[in-house]
Amino acid sequence: MKKVSFLVFAMVACLLLVTGCGKDKEVSTTGKEEESNGKTLRIVTDANYAPFEYLEGDKIVGFDVDFINAVAKEAGYEVKLESVGWDPIFVEIEGKRADVAISAITVNDERKQSYDFSVPYFLSTNKILVPEDSDIKSGDELKGNVIAVQTGTTGQEAVEKLLGKNHKDIKKFENNNLAIQELLKGGASAVVADNTVVEEYVKNNPDQKLKVVEDSKSFNEEFYGLMFPKGSELKSEFDKAVNAIYENGKYAEIYKEWFGTDPDIETLKA
Ligand code: ARG
Repeated sequence: MKKVSFLVFAMVACLLLVTGCGKDKEVSTTGKEEESNGKTLRIVTDANYAPFEYLEGDKIVGFDVDFINAVAKEAGYEVKLESVGWDPIFVEIEGKRADVAISAITVNDERKQSYDFSVPYFLSTNKILVPEDSDIKSGDELKGNVIAVQTGTTGQEAVEKLLGKNHKDIKKFENNNLAIQELLKGGASAVVADNTVVEEYVKNNPDQKLKVVEDSKSFNEEFYGLMFPKGSELKSEFDKAVNAIYENGKYAEIYKEWFGTDPDIETLKA
């Protein structure tokens, strides 16, 4: 009897050893183990921003994830993508502990002083997420209401422009999902965030009875870029790779998979 259980134990141990071994290998976020001589880059994100980057189980998925994998592959690099949170992205890049950040990051003058950015890869604008029966019809009408935003985003900046810096009615959250939760539980009258994110949320959560209000007067056009430490040599390599996947159809393929339409690449290149 003892012998049999030892045999079973030994067999299980062997099996664990054999199957467990593979887990230590670097697995790219595509799940495939692609052969490449390229160096592995540490790429950071805040995976709380569907459909750009979000968690499916413990896997980071989204448009940005497919995009960065395609760009890195084109440039000859392996990707190790890590969700560190929004504020830490900037700390990691500034401290050069990460090579690249991708997180629906808007390129603006203030950020350009501290970081380098790739050529644009996505066009965006802030929009207002409100309950279906809300009277809010414009940015100006946010005044007098409690507004939830993600800290340190262009959404926060836009709302501050309308209500005033550090206004008591602006509730700031570490990630955008928490801002939306605040709206759902009635702690805020609106969320201001990137259009694609709030539009997807409404589409995927019909039971929550929310709608999106746009206002091109209050909210500017923005472009997303990959973010690098200042002076990074990767910038020119990645710019080339982004342009390459614009040309060879890979960008359009990924875009269509996520958004169901063709991208306007000319606007991005302009
Ligand atoms: N585009 C906005 C910005 O750059 C919001 C991005 C938030 N991204 C995220 N993964 N939470 O400020």
